[in-house]
Amino acid sequence: MRAILCRSFDGIDALELAELPLPQPAEGEVRVRVRAAGVNFADTLAVVGRYQEKPPLPFVPGMELAGEVDALGHGVDGLEVGDRVVAVVDHGAFAEFALARAQDVVRLPDGVDDATAAAFPITYGTALGALRWRAALKEGETLLVHGAGGGTGLAAVECGCLLGARVIATARGADRLVLARRHGAAHVLDAEDPALVHKIRELAPRGVDVAFDTVGGAMFDVSLKTIAWEGRILVIGFASGQVPQIPANILLVKNAAAIGFYWGSYRRRAPRQVRHGLEEILDGIVAGRLHPEVSQVYPLSKVPQALSDLTGRRARGKLVIRT
Ligand SMILES: NC(=O)c1ccc[n+]([C@@H]2O[C@H](COP(=O)([O-])OP(=O)(O)OC[C@H]3O[C@@H](n4cnc5c(N)ncnc54)[C@H](OP(=O)(O)O)[C@@H]3O)[C@@H](O)[C@H]2O)c1
Repeated sequence: MRAILCRSFDGIDALELAELPLPQPAEGEVRVRVRAAGVNFADTLAVVGRYQEKPPLPFVPGMELAGEVDALGHGVDGLEVGDRVVAVVDHGAFAEFALARAQDVVRLPDGVDDATAAAFPITYGTALGALRWRAALKEGETLLVHGAGGGTGLAAVECGCLLGARVIATARGADRLVLARRHGAAHVLDAEDPALVHKIRELAPRGVDVAFDTVGGAMFDVSLKTIAWEGRILVIGFASGQVPQIPANILLVKNAAAIGFYWGSYRRRAPRQVRHGLEEILDGIVAGRLHPEVSQVYPLSKVPQALSDLTGRRARGKLVIRT
């Protein structure tokens, strides 16, 4: 099979398109003929050895995929060869075939195409999980989303609306702001506007109840300055490259919480909860309430291009690889 291979942590340019033997499913695993794979910020970290989970070299990157079940390992129930599925994997999605643990595989309903299916698990799983399980976002609350033009941020805009919140989205540039509004944000603000904090306070005089932060750095300070009494700041990621240092005195004075969230850890600790989340998101897509935004599709050979478009901040919504 053809696959993208990471032989060293020398970065995106060192990735190779290689011919590899077909992987064989072990007990509890299935092999999937991959039709599409989602691109994530985490992939850009994994290929330089800076992601929290570091697979042994060489490895095939890629963490989410859609396709058809092609072979079953021992002990797999509830899935059959030929089933159209979506799956989350530790790595291996940027290939024509990939192995997945059966517990991480969900059957696809009719009407969800491969690119859409590959685009939603990590971003929407993270957004819905963080907002519901950790921040307990309630109907009528105000949600501030940073990085709202990116994959996870845009998913948080939609999931916030689904949970009945009023969403204020920040992103860089007019086209991303239009996108965030199209996906349900009630208010959109340019992340680079020097009056950003003032404008958020005008929109939410009592403060925002929940902030969803994929960017870190200066955007975390914006959340801290605008969070309401008893507000919750979700620490999702650091796309800016800057990990915020949190002044605990502000949390104390505002009775606020900074809450870390790592969706990948729920896959191991609470796989059923993760599956329910993915099934609920699929229902939302089928019903037309959720709309994963695939802005660009690349062939397998162009994975390095897709990853550098992501790190170069040229992506909007999700990028998807077709295999
Ligand atoms: N905790 C979890 O479970 C979890 C799950 C998924 C993702 N994440 C994390 O969330 C972050 C976003 O992931 P994603 O897949 O949504 O990425 P993405 O699609 O590339 O979105 C990142 C967004 O951050 C903004 N950004 C601001 N400053 C940036 C900078 N200096 N460099 C790059 N982007 C910058 C970008 O928008 P502008 O260029 O318009 O500013 C972009 O829209 C990453 O840190 C990722 O690791 C965490």
